[in-house]
Formats: sequence, C-alpha cells, structure tokens
Amino acid sequence: MEKAQAALKAEIKELLKRRNAVLLAHNYQRDEVQEIADITGDSLGLSREAAKTEADVIVFCGVHFMAESASILSPGKTVLLPREDAGCPMADMITPSDLAAYRSGHPNAVVVTYVNSSAEVKALSDVCCTSGNAVNVVRSIPEGKEIFMVPDRNLAHYVRKVSGRALSWWDGYCPTHERLTVAAVVKAKEAHPEALLIVHPECPPKVVDLADAVLSTSGMHGFCRRSSAKEFIVGTEMGILYRLRKENPGKRFHIASRTLICPNMKLTTLEDVRDSLASMSPVIRVPEEIRLRAKAALDAMLAVPRDAA
Ligand code: 13P
Ligand code: SF4
Repeated sequence: MEKAQAALKAEIKELLKRRNAVLLAHNYQRDEVQEIADITGDSLGLSREAAKTEADVIVFCGVHFMAESASILSPGKTVLLPREDAGCPMADMITPSDLAAYRSGHPNAVVVTYVNSSAEVKALSDVCCTSGNAVNVVRSIPEGKEIFMVPDRNLAHYVRKVSGRALSWWDGYCPTHERLTVAAVVKAKEAHPEALLIVHPECPPKVVDLADAVLSTSGMHGFCRRSSAKEFIVGTEMGILYRLRKENPGKRFHIASRTLICPNMKLTTLEDVRDSLASMSPVIRVPEEIRLRAKAALDAMLAVPRDAA
C-alpha cells in the first residue's frame, strides 16, 4: 500500500515537472494530497499564490469555486480541477438569478460576497470577502449604506456581531459546519478543559459564541503556531488537523466533533491528481466577460485597508 502510494506520488511529481504545473491543496484535503502539494492554504490564498508562480498549469485540489478563483486570477494558465464533481453546497445555495432579483429590488445595497460562491455570483457583487477579512470589508463600507451579505448566514451573523453594522443576508450555510452543535462543543470542552476552542465563522452563532477565537483556516494555522497554549479544540473540517499536528509537534489538537467532514473536500485522491495531469482535464475556465466583473469584486476586496475602521 505504502509502496503503491510512493510510486503514485513519484508519477505525479514527474507529471508536474513535465507540464510545468503547480499543485495546490486546500487545508481540508486528504492528508496524502496535502503532503504532496506545492502549496497548501485557504480558499483564496491558494489562487493568489499560484498567480505569482511561473507555472503554466494549476492543479487545484479543492472544490469548484476555488478553481474558478484560480482562473479569475490567472487567465493565462490552464486550471485543472481533478474532480469536476467536487462542488460546494453552500456556494450552490445562491444562483446568479437569485442575486440579480435581489439587486433589482434593492438597487442601493452594497452586496458583499464571500469567496465561497460561483464566479457568476461574484460578477454580480460589489465586493468579495474571505472568512478572514469579512469584518474589515464591512467596516470599510460608508455608514448608512444598506449591506447585503451572501451566501453564508453564519458568517454574516458573526460579521454583524463584531462590526456592529446593520446588515442583512442570504440564508445559505455550509452543511458541514452547520452540523457542529453546542452540545458537541460542550462535551469536547469537558473532555479537554485546558484546551482553547477555535472555530470557523461558518459555524452556527451559538457555537461561535463559545469560542476563544473565530478564525479562517489560515488564521487557525497562524494562531496555533503563535499561541502559548498547548491544547486546542478545533471547530472546522477535520482535514485541517494534518498540518496543525505536523507543524506543532509539542501541541495537542482535538476535533470538536467527528461529524466535521466535508464529503466534497474528500473526493480528490492521488489517482485523480495523476489522471488529471495525464489527460489535462477537467479544465475550469471562467468566460472573460464574467471573469472581468468577478475580478473587479475581488480587486475591490484587496483594496480595503487591513485596519478599516
Ligand atoms: P477558508 O479556508 O477560506 O477559511 O474557507 C473554509 C471553507 O469552508 C472552504 O470551503
Ligand atoms: Fe463548502 Fe462547507 Fe465544504 Fe467548504 S466545508 S467546501 S464551505 S461545504
């Protein structure tokens, strides 16, 4: 088994070189996929890093909207998503026509769109946000403006709480994070009373209220690295444990609940990566007209100062 996996990894390395490709893995991917990746990271950070490389090809081990973001930021590169069926149920909860209908009823609203969304939905938005910068993005919007956040109700709820701004939102959610209950968190805290609880803002508000820190996946990596605490309960998809444990050997990490598995994030296997590089498919390409408008919303996000008041 180990021998077969080593051979597969060698084959992938060879193909990556031959195709001048960079291999990206989201923090929720299978351990063996993260292990072989050139870059591991969060939803948008990966695409931003890949855009800086000289690679001709980006292999994105993640879900569909992430590969679209890579295509938006790197139009000159070929973007491969080894499993075309790896989607994000939350991103699919709002369609372009849903958002267009909202916009026509609220022409003055500023639409803030989480990067976990389709390129077409981004293209209909004023500004994007990530789980790490959403509070800052909302704070940068002039007081008195109507603000509408899509597609994640839990992220919006958290942003409203921290920023103190009045806002409304689309009723979408991540089915994986939504499964984390207060009862499960209380149980984990009882089992590990010394541990800090860190959660992703996609978790339900009552869970977020119990957390010591609310962080994006890359925020969690930085927080645990810098923290003097030795033990953490982690409220996000369990793939994050792989690198947390590897990079912090003196610290202990407990998943807040065993239900924290995103089936879409677990689809991509090493075989899929190999086959994708061999066949140069499936390719994800955002049409230019949508790409330019979606990029404008991402650029508007990147233009927000880090400490917008
Ligand atoms: P981040 O990695 O941006 O925190 O997003 C979490 C997530 O749910 C991605 O699907
Ligand atoms: Fe989508 Fe949630 Fe899976 Fe992330 S963890 S890809 S938000 S369903």
